[in-house]
Amino acid sequence: MYITRRERFCSAHRLINNNLSEDDNQKLFGKCYNLHGHNYQLFVTVTGSISTISGFVIDIKDLKQIINNKIIKKLDHQNINEVDFMQDKITTTENLCVAIWQELVEPIRQLGGELYKIEIRETENNYFEYFGETLN
Ligand code: NI
Repeated sequence: MYITRRERFCSAHRLINNNLSEDDNQKLFGKCYNLHGHNYQLFVTVTGSISTISGFVIDIKDLKQIINNKIIKKLDHQNINEVDFMQDKITTTENLCVAIWQELVEPIRQLGGELYKIEIRETENNYFEYFGETLN
């Protein structure tokens, strides 16, 4: 069984690699080197078995609360480049998926579920999925 909670957040960011010169950043990231914003949608998918006591995989209101406290409160109407779990990272949606996974995997385990997927829709046409696979 898989259950998914959607949350939305509006955030600003700029793509910058601090190891590159201003010129190289401009060339690499173009317009995205400038501060700009997106209306993001975050989908958190959890898997597990159905409890015979509650009939739930996990209580979706607990899931909602964790996502809000750990992720949405920090990101919504903020600059992603300044958010604690994105410090020293290039604020691409790829890196955002991985960072959100890392923030949520343990708290969701404590609720009795397994985090299955983090999906972020950055625009109508771009979405990103992370299943916790090893990177690099
Ligand atoms: Ni952007």
